[in-house]
Amino acid sequence: MDSEEYEKRAAIISSCLEMNRTGINQGTSGNISVRHGDGLLITPTSMPYDRLEPEDIVFLAPDGTPQGRNRPSSEWRFHRDILASRTDLNAVVHAHPTYCTTLAILGKKIPPLHYMVAVCGGSDIRCAPYALFGSAELSAHALTALEDRTACLLKHHGVIVVGSSLATAMWRMVEVETLARQYHACLATGTEPPLLSDNQIEEVLAKFNGYGLGQQHDA
Ligand code: 13P
Repeated sequence: MDSEEYEKRAAIISSCLEMNRTGINQGTSGNISVRHGDGLLITPTSMPYDRLEPEDIVFLAPDGTPQGRNRPSSEWRFHRDILASRTDLNAVVHAHPTYCTTLAILGKKIPPLHYMVAVCGGSDIRCAPYALFGSAELSAHALTALEDRTACLLKHHGVIVVGSSLATAMWRMVEVETLARQYHACLATGTEPPLLSDNQIEEVLAKFNGYGLGQQHDA
């Protein structure tokens, strides 16, 4: 393994540990992948993050064939399919954060209640219909919900966030969970919050680009 690959594997592990430390994730749920060559590097299935070593990360060829001492995440299909269909992206992060997952259980998308929703590329963060974890059907639903977006909720499951780099995807994950928490807090008052218009969100998107935040706002 060359130093570039080693660094990618180490970054995946430190991002997993960060998700657990910040409460974005818990236990062995969640998984991370990063594009590598013509395939991807992905977390192994059901292994506690604090025991992971760089050699535990699995390389997955484009046809889904794994290489390494572990089995790949059960969600390897959507990781592979997202990276195959979105060549502008290099990282996929999946987790079950409490507020995103609460909205996903309710089948709610995150509407434009705050201008930061635009960091996911548009005026909402969609909720994909339910399908069994790890299934090709779930992957197809996720791809549709991610069209022109960099995040989507998964009904009765959790959230997927993507980025041009792992650091960007991790940053975006915190923003999405924050939006979900804000939406949940609004709903807890017993009212649906007032929303920004499409024009207002377009204005925000234009201003993000104008401020050179394109790297982070890569929908
Ligand atoms: P893996 O341990 O197989 O990655 O599964 C965790 C998960 O969150 C499935 O959705």
